[in-house]
Amino acid sequence: MNAPLIDPFQRAITYLRVSVTDRCDFRCVYCMSENMTFLPKKELLTLEELDRMCSTFVGLGVEKLRITGGEPLVRRDIMTFFQGMSRHLNSGALKELTLTTNGSQLARFAPDLAAAGVRRINVSLDTLDEAKFAEITRWGRLPQVLKGIDAAQKAGIRVKINAVALKGFNEDELFPLVDWCHERDMDLTFIEVMPMGDIGNENRLDQYWSLKDLRATLAERFTLIDLAERTGGPARYVQLQETGQKVGFITPLTHNFCESCNRVRITCTGEIYMCLGQEDMADLRAPLRDHPDDDAPLREAIRAAIAAKPKGHDFDYSRQKLDGQMSRHMSHTGG
Ligand code: GTP
Ligand code: 5AD
Ligand code: SF4
Repeated sequence: MNAPLIDPFQRAITYLRVSVTDRCDFRCVYCMSENMTFLPKKELLTLEELDRMCSTFVGLGVEKLRITGGEPLVRRDIMTFFQGMSRHLNSGALKELTLTTNGSQLARFAPDLAAAGVRRINVSLDTLDEAKFAEITRWGRLPQVLKGIDAAQKAGIRVKINAVALKGFNEDELFPLVDWCHERDMDLTFIEVMPMGDIGNENRLDQYWSLKDLRATLAERFTLIDLAERTGGPARYVQLQETGQKVGFITPLTHNFCESCNRVRITCTGEIYMCLGQEDMADLRAPLRDHPDDDAPLREAIRAAIAAKPKGHDFDYSRQKLDGQMSRHMSHTGG
């Protein structure tokens, strides 16, 4: 009954990413349109339902839980959920409880997150220039995020910065970002921009900065040593010999990492998405809600979904047009 989750390609599913809200206090251009329509509250899983959902996955062998959004920290009372999940850390069933955040609310929540057992977080930050930050996030303010990062580090949480690599936008900040992360003892990961959402095709192609090129530029100043270590995510890491710091690359476009995929995603309405880059999904909310005292139907629905996990995504810019484009916004599945 509690056999681990193995998909048709013999990949063990041990990493669950859960979006707890579709809302966000930013409007990053590659993630959302300016005027998003958000879901009515009754569509969302309640905090109790989120707890039951995640606990069921933990019972099925999930060892890493990443909370995402939208912006997870804008969900009301979300600390209650984190506090609940910490029991699975204490029991040893869960190895890591973490989140991906835009950092805007960290100043408020960092101590509570640390107390709930969060040891490491990913903060999305593409630029250190206030004006550019306001431009890319539309609604965000850089100083607020920097205060949040300070608070997280003060609370003893390790911070990894996620920067989406954007041609003509943060190309000139490659070295400043690397230096800043080194000074603050933070890891840094670059992400290739993915064709998600309804932002025009041409626009996204113009923005695409291949991490192969980024890496070549980095190598002009640093000696890059490839590292074998993995965090359970899709990033591949190098160490910069001169400083010892780690830099990661998430390359859905230039290198397809799907063969080692170990994760599935749950949206805030309880849909399971088997792949970030495919439409395949299944509803888990009905089996959850319809059987409040029996987890067996939910477990069955989870197993059926995993049995249909696709081999990989089809993102491709190589023919100078977009293939594999997803109409879904990134905020729907939480990246
Ligand atoms: P760690 O390795 O634990 O730090 O986590 P991670 O890199 O999986 O998490 P993070 O939320 O920082 O992921 C960064 C981004 O990588 C996501 O927001 C996505 O944009 C991308 N990403 C993560 N998983 C996948 C995946 O399965 N497929 C694709 N195409 N992109 C992914
Ligand atoms: N392509 C690549 N990364 C994206 N993110 C959001 N939208 C995209 C996209 N279209 C990133 C954010 C954040 C994570 C949740 O996903 O910057 O780091
Ligand atoms: Fe919000 Fe993150 Fe999307 Fe930006 S990338 S709009 S911070 S969810």
